[in-house]
Amino acid sequence: MSKVKTLGQFIIEKQNDFPYAKGELSRLLRDIGIAAKIVHREVNKAGLADILGEVGETNVQGESVKKLDVFANEQFIAALSVGGECCGIASEENEDIIPIDTPQSRNAKYVVAMDPLDGSSNIDVNVSVGTIFSIYRRVSLTGPATHEDFQQRGTEQVAAGYIIYGSSTMLVYTTGKGVNGFTLDPSIGEFCLSHPNMKTPSNGKSYSINEGNYVHFPDGVKKYIKYCQEEDKATKRPYSSRYIGSAVADIHRNLITGGIYIYPTTASSPKGKLRLLYECSPLAFIIEQAGGKATDGFQRILEIEPKTLHQRTPFFAGSSEMVDTACDYMKRYSAAQV
Ligand code: AHG
Ligand code: MN
Ligand code: MN
Repeated sequence: MSKVKTLGQFIIEKQNDFPYAKGELSRLLRDIGIAAKIVHREVNKAGLADILGEVGETNVQGESVKKLDVFANEQFIAALSVGGECCGIASEENEDIIPIDTPQSRNAKYVVAMDPLDGSSNIDVNVSVGTIFSIYRRVSLTGPATHEDFQQRGTEQVAAGYIIYGSSTMLVYTTGKGVNGFTLDPSIGEFCLSHPNMKTPSNGKSYSINEGNYVHFPDGVKKYIKYCQEEDKATKRPYSSRYIGSAVADIHRNLITGGIYIYPTTASSPKGKLRLLYECSPLAFIIEQAGGKATDGFQRILEIEPKTLHQRTPFFAGSSEMVDTACDYMKRYSAAQV
Protein backbone atom coordinates (compact mmCIF):
# COMPACT_ATOMS: atom_id res chain seq x y z
CA MET A 1 0.00 0.00 0.00
CA SER A 2 1.50 3.33 -1.09
CA LYS A 3 2.05 5.94 1.60
CA VAL A 4 1.57 8.77 -0.91
CA LYS A 5 -1.36 11.06 -0.16
CA THR A 6 -2.48 13.22 -3.06
CA LEU A 7 -3.93 16.72 -2.75
CA GLY A 8 -7.30 15.36 -3.89
CA GLN A 9 -7.32 12.64 -1.21
CA PHE A 10 -6.20 15.08 1.46
CA ILE A 11 -8.87 17.66 0.61
CA ILE A 12 -11.65 15.07 0.81
CA GLU A 13 -10.28 13.70 4.09
CA LYS A 14 -10.21 17.19 5.62
CA GLN A 15 -13.45 18.57 4.24
CA ASN A 16 -15.34 17.90 7.46
CA ASP A 17 -13.18 20.65 8.99
CA PHE A 18 -14.72 23.24 6.67
CA PRO A 19 -17.18 25.54 8.38
CA TYR A 20 -19.60 25.56 5.45
CA ALA A 21 -21.06 23.14 2.92
CA LYS A 22 -18.63 20.34 2.35
CA GLY A 23 -17.90 19.59 -1.28
CA GLU A 24 -17.82 23.10 -2.72
CA LEU A 25 -14.59 24.43 -1.26
CA SER A 26 -12.97 21.07 -1.99
CA ARG A 27 -13.93 21.37 -5.63
CA LEU A 28 -12.66 24.94 -5.77
CA LEU A 29 -9.27 23.88 -4.39
CA ARG A 30 -9.22 21.03 -6.86
CA ASP A 31 -9.86 23.48 -9.75
CA ILE A 32 -6.94 25.64 -8.55
CA GLY A 33 -4.73 22.53 -8.43
CA ILE A 34 -5.59 21.72 -12.05
CA ALA A 35 -4.72 25.22 -13.29
CA ALA A 36 -1.49 25.08 -11.26
CA LYS A 37 -0.38 21.93 -13.10
CA ILE A 38 -0.98 23.59 -16.47
CA VAL A 39 0.99 26.69 -15.42
CA HIS A 40 3.77 24.42 -14.07
CA ARG A 41 4.01 22.81 -17.50
CA GLU A 42 4.37 26.17 -19.25
CA VAL A 43 6.78 27.64 -16.66
CA ASN A 44 9.00 24.61 -17.22
CA LYS A 45 9.09 25.34 -20.94
CA ALA A 46 9.83 29.05 -20.48
CA GLY A 47 13.49 28.68 -21.47
CA LEU A 48 12.41 27.15 -24.77
CA ALA A 49 10.77 30.40 -25.90
CA ASP A 50 13.56 30.97 -28.45
CA ILE A 51 12.80 27.64 -30.06
CA LEU A 52 9.04 27.67 -29.69
CA GLY A 53 8.62 31.36 -30.52
CA GLU A 54 9.04 34.73 -28.79
CA VAL A 55 6.25 36.45 -26.92
CA GLY A 56 3.93 38.12 -29.41
CA GLU A 57 5.03 35.82 -32.26
CA THR A 58 3.37 32.76 -33.67
CA ASN A 59 5.15 29.60 -32.59
CA VAL A 60 5.94 26.54 -34.70
CA GLN A 61 2.55 25.00 -33.90
CA GLY A 62 0.86 28.11 -35.26
CA GLU A 63 -0.22 29.25 -31.76
CA SER A 64 0.44 32.81 -30.70
CA VAL A 65 2.94 32.92 -27.81
CA LYS A 66 1.72 34.72 -24.71
CA LYS A 67 3.52 36.26 -21.80
CA LEU A 68 3.45 33.77 -18.96
CA ASP A 69 1.60 36.07 -16.59
CA VAL A 70 -1.16 36.51 -19.17
CA PHE A 71 -1.17 32.76 -19.80
CA ALA A 72 -1.34 31.96 -16.07
CA ASN A 73 -4.16 34.47 -15.62
CA GLU A 74 -6.17 32.85 -18.41
CA GLN A 75 -5.63 29.35 -17.05
CA PHE A 76 -6.81 30.19 -13.53
CA ILE A 77 -9.78 32.18 -14.84
CA ALA A 78 -10.76 29.29 -17.11
CA ALA A 79 -10.45 26.67 -14.36
CA LEU A 80 -12.47 28.76 -11.90
CA SER A 81 -15.11 29.71 -14.49
CA VAL A 82 -15.89 26.17 -15.61
CA GLY A 83 -15.59 24.68 -12.12
CA GLY A 84 -18.93 26.16 -11.02
CA GLU A 85 -17.94 26.94 -7.40
CA CYS A 86 -16.71 30.51 -7.95
CA CYS A 87 -18.91 33.50 -8.85
CA GLY A 88 -16.16 36.07 -9.38
CA ILE A 89 -12.43 36.66 -9.58
CA ALA A 90 -10.16 39.60 -8.77
CA SER A 91 -6.78 39.34 -10.46
CA GLU A 92 -3.63 41.44 -10.49
CA GLU A 93 -3.86 41.29 -14.27
CA ASN A 94 -7.38 42.75 -14.52
CA GLU A 95 -8.33 46.31 -13.66
CA ASP A 96 -11.84 45.36 -12.55
CA ILE A 97 -13.40 42.24 -11.02
CA ILE A 98 -14.36 39.39 -13.34
CA PRO A 99 -17.93 38.38 -12.50
CA ILE A 100 -18.71 34.80 -13.51
CA ASP A 101 -22.16 34.41 -14.95
CA THR A 102 -22.81 30.82 -15.92
CA PRO A 103 -25.84 28.72 -14.95
CA GLN A 104 -23.65 26.61 -12.59
CA SER A 105 -21.95 29.57 -10.91
CA ARG A 106 -25.03 31.69 -10.20
CA ASN A 107 -25.39 30.16 -6.76
CA ALA A 108 -21.69 29.57 -6.21
CA LYS A 109 -20.62 30.60 -2.71
CA TYR A 110 -17.04 31.72 -3.22
CA VAL A 111 -14.93 34.45 -4.81
CA VAL A 112 -11.22 34.18 -5.52
CA ALA A 113 -8.57 36.92 -5.51
CA MET A 114 -5.27 36.00 -7.14
CA ASP A 115 -1.85 37.01 -8.34
CA PRO A 116 -1.58 34.49 -11.19
CA LEU A 117 2.17 34.92 -11.65
CA ASP A 118 4.17 36.47 -8.85
CA GLY A 119 7.79 37.43 -9.44
CA SER A 120 7.25 37.52 -13.19
CA SER A 121 10.51 39.39 -13.82
CA ASN A 122 12.28 36.18 -12.74
CA ILE A 123 10.79 34.13 -15.56
CA ASP A 124 13.38 35.06 -18.17
CA VAL A 125 16.27 34.14 -15.87
CA ASN A 126 15.03 30.73 -14.69
CA VAL A 127 14.38 31.79 -11.09
CA SER A 128 11.40 30.71 -8.99
CA VAL A 129 8.00 32.32 -9.53
CA GLY A 130 4.64 31.66 -7.93
CA THR A 131 0.87 32.01 -7.86
CA ILE A 132 -1.03 33.38 -4.85
CA PHE A 133 -4.75 32.83 -4.19
CA SER A 134 -7.26 33.89 -1.58
CA ILE A 135 -10.79 32.54 -1.18
CA TYR A 136 -13.69 34.41 0.45
CA ARG A 137 -17.28 33.48 0.97
CA ARG A 138 -19.44 35.87 -1.03
CA VAL A 139 -21.48 38.48 0.82
CA SER A 140 -23.82 39.17 -2.12
CA LEU A 141 -26.70 36.73 -2.29
CA THR A 142 -26.87 35.37 -5.81
CA GLY A 143 -25.79 35.99 -9.41
CA PRO A 144 -22.30 37.08 -10.43
CA ALA A 145 -19.98 38.54 -7.77
CA THR A 146 -20.03 42.24 -6.90
CA HIS A 147 -17.33 44.59 -5.58
CA GLU A 148 -18.46 44.17 -2.00
CA ASP A 149 -17.62 40.46 -2.18
CA PHE A 150 -13.95 41.52 -2.41
CA GLN A 151 -14.12 44.24 0.22
CA GLN A 152 -13.65 41.88 3.12
CA ARG A 153 -10.82 41.88 5.63
CA GLY A 154 -8.24 39.13 5.46
CA THR A 155 -9.66 37.65 8.66
CA GLU A 156 -12.69 36.59 6.57
CA GLN A 157 -10.66 34.36 4.22
CA VAL A 158 -11.87 30.77 4.20
CA ALA A 159 -8.76 29.52 2.46
CA ALA A 160 -5.56 30.84 0.95
CA GLY A 161 -2.52 29.38 -0.68
CA TYR A 162 0.37 29.72 -3.04
CA ILE A 163 2.02 27.64 -5.66
CA ILE A 164 5.78 27.93 -6.01
CA TYR A 165 7.24 26.94 -9.36
CA GLY A 166 10.75 26.33 -8.05
CA SER A 167 13.31 23.56 -8.22
CA SER A 168 10.17 21.53 -7.66
CA THR A 169 6.59 22.80 -7.86
CA MET A 170 4.71 22.97 -4.57
CA LEU A 171 1.20 23.96 -3.54
CA VAL A 172 0.87 25.23 0.03
CA TYR A 173 -2.52 26.10 1.48
CA THR A 174 -4.54 26.68 4.59
CA THR A 175 -8.23 26.59 5.40
CA GLY A 176 -7.57 28.04 8.85
CA LYS A 177 -6.58 24.75 10.42
CA GLY A 178 -2.84 24.76 9.90
CA VAL A 179 -0.78 24.79 6.74
CA ASN A 180 -0.01 21.85 4.49
CA GLY A 181 2.39 21.63 1.57
CA PHE A 182 2.19 19.35 -1.47
CA THR A 183 4.95 18.69 -3.98
CA LEU A 184 4.07 17.99 -7.58
CA ASP A 185 5.30 14.60 -8.77
CA PRO A 186 5.41 15.27 -12.52
CA SER A 187 5.68 11.55 -13.28
CA ILE A 188 2.17 10.92 -11.96
CA GLY A 189 0.85 14.47 -12.40
CA GLU A 190 -0.27 14.75 -8.77
CA PHE A 191 0.47 17.08 -5.88
CA CYS A 192 1.55 14.78 -3.02
CA LEU A 193 1.55 15.68 0.68
CA SER A 194 5.21 16.36 1.48
CA HIS A 195 5.08 19.05 4.19
CA PRO A 196 2.25 18.22 6.64
CA ASN A 197 1.38 20.78 9.33
CA MET A 198 4.03 23.35 8.42
CA LYS A 199 5.28 25.48 11.31
CA THR A 200 7.65 28.41 10.99
CA PRO A 201 10.40 28.85 13.61
CA SER A 202 9.78 31.81 15.95
CA ASN A 203 13.24 33.11 15.01
CA GLY A 204 15.39 32.78 11.93
CA LYS A 205 18.74 33.74 10.54
CA SER A 206 17.84 35.64 7.37
CA TYR A 207 16.21 38.89 6.39
CA SER A 208 14.75 39.50 2.94
CA ILE A 209 14.41 43.04 1.61
CA ASN A 210 15.41 44.89 -1.55
CA GLU A 211 18.27 46.74 0.10
CA GLY A 212 18.95 48.71 -3.07
CA ASN A 213 16.09 50.96 -1.96
CA TYR A 214 17.79 51.62 1.41
CA VAL A 215 17.97 55.40 1.14
CA HIS A 216 14.21 55.55 0.60
CA PHE A 217 13.23 53.32 3.53
CA PRO A 218 11.52 54.69 6.65
CA ASP A 219 13.92 55.23 9.56
CA GLY A 220 12.46 52.26 11.47
CA VAL A 221 13.42 49.90 8.62
CA LYS A 222 16.87 51.46 8.22
CA LYS A 223 17.57 50.97 11.93
CA TYR A 224 16.17 47.42 11.87
CA ILE A 225 18.48 46.51 8.96
CA LYS A 226 21.44 47.82 10.94
CA TYR A 227 20.23 45.67 13.88
CA CYS A 228 20.15 42.61 11.56
CA GLN A 229 23.76 43.32 10.56
CA GLU A 230 25.13 43.78 14.08
CA GLU A 231 27.22 41.10 15.77
CA ASP A 232 25.44 39.39 18.67
CA LYS A 233 26.07 35.72 19.47
CA ALA A 234 22.97 35.28 21.66
CA THR A 235 20.60 36.17 18.82
CA LYS A 236 22.84 34.64 16.10
CA ARG A 237 23.41 37.99 14.42
CA PRO A 238 24.47 39.14 11.93
CA TYR A 239 21.66 37.54 9.94
CA SER A 240 22.11 36.50 6.32
CA SER A 241 20.55 38.61 3.62
CA ARG A 242 18.42 36.54 1.22
CA TYR A 243 16.28 38.17 -1.47
CA ILE A 244 14.95 36.43 -4.56
CA GLY A 245 12.51 39.11 -5.72
CA SER A 246 9.58 36.68 -5.91
CA ALA A 247 7.56 37.22 -2.76
CA VAL A 248 6.25 33.64 -2.90
CA ALA A 249 9.76 32.19 -3.03
CA ASP A 250 11.14 34.51 -0.35
CA ILE A 251 8.19 33.80 1.94
CA HIS A 252 8.37 30.05 1.26
CA ARG A 253 12.05 29.88 2.20
CA ASN A 254 11.52 31.96 5.32
CA LEU A 255 8.48 29.89 6.30
CA ILE A 256 10.59 26.74 6.30
CA THR A 257 13.88 28.02 7.70
CA GLY A 258 12.71 31.06 9.70
CA GLY A 259 13.30 34.65 8.64
CA ILE A 260 11.66 37.97 7.95
CA TYR A 261 10.44 39.43 4.64
CA ILE A 262 9.99 43.19 4.39
CA TYR A 263 8.62 45.30 1.55
CA PRO A 264 8.29 48.72 3.16
CA THR A 265 7.27 52.07 1.73
CA THR A 266 9.83 53.60 -0.64
CA ALA A 267 10.04 56.82 -2.64
CA SER A 268 8.69 55.13 -5.77
CA SER A 269 6.13 53.09 -3.77
CA PRO A 270 4.96 55.45 -1.01
CA LYS A 271 2.27 52.98 0.08
CA GLY A 272 4.45 49.90 -0.36
CA LYS A 273 4.55 47.80 -3.53
CA LEU A 274 2.69 44.63 -2.69
CA ARG A 275 -1.10 44.35 -3.01
CA LEU A 276 -3.26 43.71 0.01
CA LEU A 277 -6.00 41.57 -1.49
CA TYR A 278 -4.13 38.97 -3.49
CA GLU A 279 -0.54 39.12 -2.21
CA CYS A 280 -0.31 40.22 1.42
CA SER A 281 -3.60 38.93 2.88
CA PRO A 282 -3.28 35.34 1.61
CA LEU A 283 0.43 35.18 2.52
CA ALA A 284 -0.40 36.65 5.95
CA PHE A 285 -3.12 34.00 6.52
CA ILE A 286 -0.65 31.22 5.72
CA ILE A 287 2.16 32.72 7.82
CA GLU A 288 -0.13 33.18 10.84
CA GLN A 289 -1.46 29.66 10.47
CA ALA A 290 2.15 28.44 10.51
CA GLY A 291 2.78 30.36 13.75
CA GLY A 292 4.34 33.52 12.27
CA LYS A 293 3.20 37.13 12.05
CA ALA A 294 2.38 39.59 9.26
CA THR A 295 1.88 43.33 9.68
CA ASP A 296 2.19 46.60 7.77
CA GLY A 297 4.73 47.69 10.38
CA PHE A 298 2.03 48.76 12.82
CA GLN A 299 -1.16 46.82 12.19
CA ARG A 300 -1.98 43.16 11.55
CA ILE A 301 -2.39 42.69 7.76
CA LEU A 302 -5.49 40.53 8.18
CA GLU A 303 -7.32 43.36 9.98
CA ILE A 304 -6.77 46.02 7.34
CA GLU A 305 -10.02 47.02 5.71
CA PRO A 306 -9.63 46.96 1.92
CA LYS A 307 -10.91 50.10 0.21
CA THR A 308 -9.90 49.38 -3.37
CA LEU A 309 -9.23 46.23 -5.35
CA HIS A 310 -5.54 46.86 -6.06
CA GLN A 311 -4.69 48.59 -2.78
CA ARG A 312 -1.05 48.39 -1.72
CA THR A 313 0.41 47.96 1.73
CA PRO A 314 3.83 47.77 3.36
CA PHE A 315 4.52 44.17 4.37
CA PHE A 316 6.53 42.79 7.32
CA ALA A 317 6.10 39.03 7.56
CA GLY A 318 7.72 35.89 8.90
CA SER A 319 9.07 34.54 12.17
CA SER A 320 7.07 36.04 15.05
CA GLU A 321 9.96 37.34 17.16
CA MET A 322 11.68 38.92 14.16
CA VAL A 323 8.48 40.67 13.05
CA ASP A 324 7.92 41.90 16.62
CA THR A 325 11.43 43.38 16.71
CA ALA A 326 11.03 45.05 13.30
CA CYS A 327 7.68 46.53 14.40
CA ASP A 328 9.27 47.84 17.61
CA TYR A 329 11.78 49.73 15.45
CA MET A 330 8.91 51.09 13.32
CA LYS A 331 7.06 52.32 16.40
CA ARG A 332 10.18 53.94 17.80
CA TYR A 333 11.50 55.63 14.68
CA SER A 334 8.79 55.80 12.04
CA ALA A 335 5.46 56.49 13.68
CA ALA A 336 5.59 60.07 12.42
CA GLN A 337 5.77 58.91 8.81
CA VAL A 338 2.48 56.96 8.88
P1 AHG B 1 4.56 40.61 -9.56
O1 AHG B 1 5.52 39.85 -10.41
O2 AHG B 1 3.28 39.86 -9.31
O3 AHG B 1 4.33 42.02 -10.05
O4 AHG B 1 5.17 40.75 -8.07
C1 AHG B 1 6.50 41.12 -7.87
C2 AHG B 1 6.63 41.55 -6.43
C3 AHG B 1 7.05 40.47 -5.44
O5 AHG B 1 6.88 39.18 -5.83
C4 AHG B 1 8.50 40.72 -5.20
O6 AHG B 1 8.88 40.35 -3.91
C5 AHG B 1 8.62 42.18 -5.44
O7 AHG B 1 7.65 42.53 -6.37
C6 AHG B 1 9.97 42.53 -5.98
O8 AHG B 1 10.03 43.90 -6.13
P2 AHG B 1 11.42 44.66 -6.28
O9 AHG B 1 11.98 44.28 -7.62
O10 AHG B 1 11.02 46.11 -6.18
O11 AHG B 1 12.28 44.23 -5.12
MN1 MN C 1 3.11 39.62 -7.23
MN1 MN D 1 1.89 39.03 -10.73
